[in-house]
Amino acid sequence: MQTPIGIAGVSGYTGVELLRILSAHPHVRVSALSAGASAGKPLDAIWPGFAGLDVPAVEPLDAATLAARCAVVFLALPHSAAPTLVPELLDAGVRVIDLGTRFRLRDPSAYARSYGHPHPCPERLPEAVYGLPEAHRGALRDARLVANPGCYPTATAIAAMPLVESGAVDWIVADCLSGVSGAGRSPGPRNLYCEVQESAVAYHAAGRHRHVAEMEQLLGVPVSFTPHLVPMRRGMLATVTARFKTPTTREALRERFAARYADHPAVTLRDTPPATADVRGTARAHVFVDWDDERGAAVAICAIDNIGKGAAGQAVHNMNLMLGLPETTGLPWLPLLP
Ligand SMILES: NC(=O)c1ccc[n+]([C@@H]2O[C@H](COP(=O)([O-])OP(=O)(O)OC[C@H]3O[C@@H](n4cnc5c(N)ncnc54)[C@H](OP(=O)(O)O)[C@@H]3O)[C@@H](O)[C@H]2O)c1
Repeated sequence: MQTPIGIAGVSGYTGVELLRILSAHPHVRVSALSAGASAGKPLDAIWPGFAGLDVPAVEPLDAATLAARCAVVFLALPHSAAPTLVPELLDAGVRVIDLGTRFRLRDPSAYARSYGHPHPCPERLPEAVYGLPEAHRGALRDARLVANPGCYPTATAIAAMPLVESGAVDWIVADCLSGVSGAGRSPGPRNLYCEVQESAVAYHAAGRHRHVAEMEQLLGVPVSFTPHLVPMRRGMLATVTARFKTPTTREALRERFAARYADHPAVTLRDTPPATADVRGTARAHVFVDWDDERGAAVAICAIDNIGKGAAGQAVHNMNLMLGLPETTGLPWLPLLP
């Protein structure tokens, strides 16, 4: 049986990655596609590389159309778009996986602080499940509304969860690099070739990035987070440093990470620091951990593809759990090389 699914925002980077993965998924049928300004254009006018793919037309965003045709809808939209869409879809019995930020923070006042406007439907927050399979796999199986995590929180959490869960860490430092696609497809100074090529820059440092609240909610400790934009199309690298209250060893840390992720197929523990190229185009995370004996600190490094495990790949992983499928079904697993 094939579950009918819809993608809202297919003209964007995470939306088109959803289409790439879901059009080859054995247990779903792409039944509705929508976009904003690009609606009405043929798919191959928006994405010429998808010429010849047999999928529905790209239509304007409309809750009733999506509800009539789909059992599961993926929202790959800016957090400001379509404020009533999620309640409308849920009320129509559609399960929703939102790649945006709107349902990630449990506390509506935290949302208002981070995003500068009140939450449009705070009454729906309690039913949202934060979609990190490595943290909430059980709850995801029954979820009607999934808040797919941000890319920075995903990479940081995979590196940090085994450290924080040890109880030996009071706070962490997260130094993260992002590819330019992290800013989406809309043109702006952060994604102009002349401004990003051959250059790297930190931004929203010293607690000013919106993802800090999401990381701290998940990890339960303060996170000193510095994001950097680096000149690559896709990819994300998180380096997490945590001073331990009592000394440990590299071997003990590796055992802790191996046990933590033994039952989680999307996370691979590496013997060497991972590169973003090792996971490009995949729904996996590669993680490495080491111990700095002189400073009494653990250093964990996680590489993901910001659009894969950091967005669309993880969203499809969550859908597999919701539909009771083997969790890795249809997920891109090996990197695009070179
Ligand atoms: N990029 C990443 O690495 C990443 C990672 C994790 C999570 N996310 C989140 O995923 C979501 C999508 O990100 P993205 O990078 O894919 O963005 P994007 O490339 O800018 O695409 C945005 C999509 O939303 C559509 N859209 C915008 N306003 C709309 C409106 N009012 N009504 C209907 N459709 C509208 C756009 O359609 P038109 O272009 O046709 O107007 C486009 O299809 C965001 O919430 C982002 O925070 C992104």
